[in-house]
Amino acid sequence: LFGFKKKVSGLNFTPINPSDRDELLLPRGYKYNVVAAYGDVINKKGETFGFNNDFTLYFPINKSSSHGLLWVNHEYSSELFVHGKKQNNTYTNDQIQKSLYNQGGSIIEIHRDKSGIWKMDLESKYARRITGLTPFKLTGPAVGSAAVGQATNVQGTFANCSGGKTLWNTVLSAEENFETTAADAKLNETHYGWIVEIDPFNPSFKARKHTSLGRFNHENSSMGISADGRVVVYMGDDKQDACVYKFISKNKFIASRGIANSDLLEEGTLYVANMSKGQWAALTIDAVQKAANGDKDLLAKFKTQADVVVNAHEAALLVGGTPTDRPEDVEISPFDNTVFIAHTNNSMHGNFHGHITRFIEERDDLGSLTFDYEIFAAGGKQSGFSAPDNLTFDSQANLWTVTDISSSKLNSGIYKHFANNGMFVIPTSGKNEGEAFQFASAPKEAEMTGPCFTPDETTLFLSIQHPGEETTDLKQPTSTWPHRRGDTMPRPGVVAITGFKY
Ligand code: FEO
Ligand code: CA
Ligand code: CA
Ligand code: CA
Repeated sequence: LFGFKKKVSGLNFTPINPSDRDELLLPRGYKYNVVAAYGDVINKKGETFGFNNDFTLYFPINKSSSHGLLWVNHEYSSELFVHGKKQNNTYTNDQIQKSLYNQGGSIIEIHRDKSGIWKMDLESKYARRITGLTPFKLTGPAVGSAAVGQATNVQGTFANCSGGKTLWNTVLSAEENFETTAADAKLNETHYGWIVEIDPFNPSFKARKHTSLGRFNHENSSMGISADGRVVVYMGDDKQDACVYKFISKNKFIASRGIANSDLLEEGTLYVANMSKGQWAALTIDAVQKAANGDKDLLAKFKTQADVVVNAHEAALLVGGTPTDRPEDVEISPFDNTVFIAHTNNSMHGNFHGHITRFIEERDDLGSLTFDYEIFAAGGKQSGFSAPDNLTFDSQANLWTVTDISSSKLNSGIYKHFANNGMFVIPTSGKNEGEAFQFASAPKEAEMTGPCFTPDETTLFLSIQHPGEETTDLKQPTSTWPHRRGDTMPRPGVVAITGFKY
């Protein structure tokens, strides 16, 4: 791939080469500006942008592609850069509050000015933080159950990795690696690991966690609609040997109900993919008890549907869910309803570079309970990418894929070839189908996350997460991105990339 230069049909860029530079590199003709970075004030109240931005989701205001709200996930905090080290093996209350505050999400109001630069509106009436301290309510089968300590309301959201948009214009944010923060903050672990829903426009819509969608290490959610009008949500459980899920609502989506459609996520069936049979297996209490096959310990554990959703991974393996190589983002193709899953890697099985799997639902119906699948693209030297993570589509049926080779392995050993993490464009049809073309190279030790286009595709929002993650001494950071004058600290930040000419 080195030195490879080719203009791709349907794409107006010349692919870049891998690079180890401490900069966000883009093809010729494209540029970026930082919209918000860690610590920036976002509103009149003085609330600040959290750490390690991940998923981004643009909500147009008056259908505009130059003025809207941007939801941004904040996935985790950092001892070195945010809340400080433990003393005597424990954090102080202040440190815990700081860690919880800097996770969750930000809602910012942004607009593109005449010079093409995206800026935050600090006077915004919408801009606010959702944090590890914000009150949430639970919905669905686990509400008030013994499985969640009888809770109906819980404290906060954290470990927010990727997410998705609902058909009624709210955000779904996925709680992924919640265990460490929950343990440090002495919070009940069963209150985390859910898909949460927030309305960025309406603070009186109470933030909620939908327990019908199961509790696991949620990477994301991708919502579509079945042939008969029910809502379908695809989800990955980003663990080694974990499964791919989908939820199908009991009732049908009715556009005129608007945000009241949120109740569709409270009642329905959770399924897990059995890839050897090509079947979606239902995660109902009846199916799980049957699969327990008289085992007393399992029957004691799985007594109600609440037990099933709270212990979804264990239930999934029982009913025949296929363990896979760390399913990260899942994206439904808006062109043919096939479903793309980034299986990032699995060192336990020697899958060092990961692959992108494509599910083909029977009759192309997202509500189908049978499917076929193929490996759409495989990571490695031959393709030029390794460790696919977040995915998004553009209107030309190109799959935009960002990579997440872990910081400690970048630029060495079998990963040397790829240099820093990258962003790749992979056509899903046409003569370049399945080929990867590099569009961006991340700053040192960063991962690019949460790519999201404006509706007119003239801007691509992108998170730069954990630049300089391997820093051990603040006086000698391994990255200083975004290179703000007078700032020696690397800062996670969201950028707006412009220059698209479709
Ligand atoms: Fe937070 Fe699976 O990436
Ligand atoms: Ca991810
Ligand atoms: Ca995505
Ligand atoms: Ca990852």
